[in-house]
Amino acid sequence: MKILTVIGARPQFIKAMALSHTVARSSGVEEVLLHTGQHYDDNMSAVFFRDLRLAEPKYRFDLGGGSHGQMTGRQLEAIEEALIAEKPDVCLVYGDTNSTLAGSLAAAKLHIPVAHVEAGLRSFNRRMPEEINRILTDHVATWLFAPTETAVRNLANEGIADDNVHLVGDVMYDVARLVIDHPERRTDILERLGLSSEDYAVSTLHRQENTDDPGRLAEILEALAELAGRMKVVLPLHPRTRKTVTGDARAKRALEKMITIDPVGFFDMATLLSVARLAITDSGGLQKEAFFHGVPCVTVREETEWVELVELGWNRLPASITGTAIAEAIEAALAAPPGKNTAAYGHGDAANKLLEVLVAGRSGTQ
Ligand code: UD1
Repeated sequence: MKILTVIGARPQFIKAMALSHTVARSSGVEEVLLHTGQHYDDNMSAVFFRDLRLAEPKYRFDLGGGSHGQMTGRQLEAIEEALIAEKPDVCLVYGDTNSTLAGSLAAAKLHIPVAHVEAGLRSFNRRMPEEINRILTDHVATWLFAPTETAVRNLANEGIADDNVHLVGDVMYDVARLVIDHPERRTDILERLGLSSEDYAVSTLHRQENTDDPGRLAEILEALAELAGRMKVVLPLHPRTRKTVTGDARAKRALEKMITIDPVGFFDMATLLSVARLAITDSGGLQKEAFFHGVPCVTVREETEWVELVELGWNRLPASITGTAIAEAIEAALAAPPGKNTAAYGHGDAANKLLEVLVAGRSGTQ
C-alpha cells in the first residue's frame, strides 16, 4: 500500500512523525511525504524534521504566503500533479490547515481515497479559516480518524457514515510520550533562559483572529505582562505575531516585560512545557500538550475544539478577549489545578491503530 502524506505547517510535521515512524517499521506499506512549504522558516519547519527524524519529503514545494485563496489554489495544483505521478492508494492529511484542504480536495477529485487524521473537530466558528478547512476535508474523506468521542459525535451530527469514522485517539499524545516517557530527552532550554521548575508560564499566539487585530493582541499581551509581574513569561513569537507587534507601541511595552524568543523546536517546547506553571495559548496543539504534561492552560479564544479539557477543568476560556477577563482566567487556573486524566485522548497508540484500519480497509477493497 502506498500512502501519500501532505504536510505543510508546523503542527503537521509533529503529527506526521508518529505515523511515519510506524510505517517505517511495517512491511508492505510505503509513505511518500509531500511538504507544501506553507511554513518555511528553519525554526517553523526544518527544525522539526531534524528533531523528530522525519524523512526528507520526496516533494518539497514553496507554496506559503499570499491570501488564503492564492495559497490553497497554488497548493491544489501542485499536489494534483504529484498525486497523478505517484498514484497512491491513499492521500493522508492532518488537521485543518490550507495544506490539509488542498491535499484532500486534489485527491478526492482524482478519486484517490482521503484519510483525515484529527477528523471531527469543530469550533462552530465559521470565521476561522481552520473551521472551513476541517469541515470540507471531513466531507470528502473516506477514512475519518477521530481523536475524541466529541469528534465522533460532531461527525454523526453532520451525517457522516459511522463506518467511515474510527476513534483512534490523538496522534499528538503518541508524540508527547516521546518526552513524557523519556525525561532524559529534555533539552537545556531552561538553563539557557534562566528558568527553573514551575517559576514561569509559557505562551504562544498565532491565530489570525488574535494576530490580525492589534487592539485585541495588545489586550492579550497586557494580561501576559501583568502575569510577568509575578512569574516569568516565555513567549516564542510566531512570524505572523511578530509582524503585527512590530511598530505597535502598546504591544512593545507589554513584550518588554516578557522573555520573547524565536519559535523553538519540538524538544525545546516539550521541555519548556514539562515543568511550566501555566500555559497561555491560542494553539490547538499546545492546549493538549500542556494537559499531557500536567500543566493547566488558559486558551485565549472564544471557543475551543478540545472541549474535554474545559470539562475536566484543565483548560479555561476567558469570559471575553480583554485584559481583565484573561487575567481572571489566569488567576482561576493558578488557584485550582485539577487532577490528571489522559484517557480522553486515547493511550498514545493512535498511529498504530489508524495504520491497522488503513491496511485492513485496503485489503478489504481488493
Ligand atoms: C497555520 C494554520 C493553522 C495552524 C498554524 C500552526 C491555516 C489556515 N492555518 O496558521 O491551522 O494552527 O499554521 O502554526 O492553514 N510565516 C513566516 N514563516 C514561516 C511560516 C509563516 O514568515 O515559516 C508567515 C507567513 O508568510 C504568514 C504568517 O506567517 O504571513 C502566517 O502563516 P500561515 O501559513 O498563514 O499560517 P499560520 O498562521 O501559522
